[in-house]
Amino acid sequence: MSTVEPLQKIQLGKVTLWERKDPDINNDMKREDLVTECKFDWLDIEALKLEFDQTEMKPFEHPLKEKCKAENSWFEYTPNWHTYKFTNDMSQYTDTNPETVKCTMILRYILDNKRVVPKYFKQIAGSDLPWHSDPLGSCAINVALEDDTANLEYLGNMAGDPDVHFNYRIGLLNTVPRHRVQPFHQDRRTAKFQVFDMDYNIVREKLIENNAVLS
Ligand SMILES: [Fe+2]
Repeated sequence: MSTVEPLQKIQLGKVTLWERKDPDINNDMKREDLVTECKFDWLDIEALKLEFDQTEMKPFEHPLKEKCKAENSWFEYTPNWHTYKFTNDMSQYTDTNPETVKCTMILRYILDNKRVVPKYFKQIAGSDLPWHSDPLGSCAINVALEDDTANLEYLGNMAGDPDVHFNYRIGLLNTVPRHRVQPFHQDRRTAKFQVFDMDYNIVREKLIENNAVLS
């Protein structure tokens, strides 16, 4: 079981914000509380890469920028972290991003959650992704599109396991505790499937039930 502090749901207009008391990992946590490596036999990674490369990205801006105090934050605007945000309505992407649509629909079915929304991210070579807790949602399924993957690190200590680095190809990530990715030698492309309104542990259980987790 995860020992992450319970999340408090706050509604800001149409935006759901999750507030946390203590976002960092602690000695009661285990690696499985943070990252679950997945195997999706139905995912075509080459098709996903192609769609990613054909999609126009733009520098990331914090989704709550207008409503929260994100001023002077790295996350307010960065030229080294490019993104493409999909809307919830996947029908408009069937011609341009069919593999992304397929993966989203399968995940929505497996998780019984209509609020699985994809996003693309590109971390430009040599730039870091600093410590942060994701501003929206509490977990996500990330697909690393590079063969040579960068380390994901969590802030804090776990008893008996001081090395909290993770590498994954497809990983369910707990995005509540603060995490970062240090500079990488090449552009780092990630297809992210953000899961809203669902705790990491519930998503993990559903993936296990559907034989979608690496054993
Ligand atoms: Fe993150």
